[in-house]
Amino acid sequence: MTGQPISDAELGSVFEAAKWAPSAYNVQPWRFVYAKRNSSRFDEFLRLQDQRNNQWAGKSSALVIVFAANYYQYKGRIQAQILNAFETGMACMAMLLEASGRGLVAHPIHNYNQTKTRELLNVTEKSHQLLTFVAIGRRADPVNRPYEPISKRHQVKEFVFRDTFVNTDPTGADDC
Ligand SMILES: Cc1cc2nc3c(=O)[nH]c(=O)nc-3n(C[C@H](O)[C@H](O)[C@H](O)COP(=O)(O)O)c2cc1C
Repeated sequence: MTGQPISDAELGSVFEAAKWAPSAYNVQPWRFVYAKRNSSRFDEFLRLQDQRNNQWAGKSSALVIVFAANYYQYKGRIQAQILNAFETGMACMAMLLEASGRGLVAHPIHNYNQTKTRELLNVTEKSHQLLTFVAIGRRADPVNRPYEPISKRHQVKEFVFRDTFVNTDPTGADDC
């Protein structure tokens, strides 16, 4: 990432994409808190990252913290939202794809201080799951990306099975 600024309109489009994610009962449990570069809040968010992630997240244009609401109200009753993490993951993916389509880069980050993140924003475990950070920025030239490698993926046949389930659980938990 280059550290160049991102406009409110660009960031708004990225969140707009997240808005259209599907959710059971259309509950929409995703919650995002963002801070833009060159603000004291951004610096606070950056201090929550570990040193390795700081190398590249420090060059992002915005940092987003992603939560999933644990509860929702339906017909006046409070219900547990059990698919909240799955649905929020879909909203995040929509966000990542929109960013990518706009020539931006959006990277999830899980190595950060969760306790301090919750304290900073005053969000309890009871009310919301804290899922991830996402760093959004402008894609740097490859030579300027010491820590943005192109990653490999499993082959499709390793995770798509026709007719039967093939258990690749490394713990062998289901073995008789
Ligand atoms: C929830 C989540 C958390 C992640 N946390 C980190 C992280 O803390 N640091 C990091 O360098 N990459 C992190 N990643 C990025 C993954 O390592 C990366 O997406 C994966 O290796 C595939 O690489 P690619 O997305 O560049 O193709 C995270 C990805 C996800 C989905």
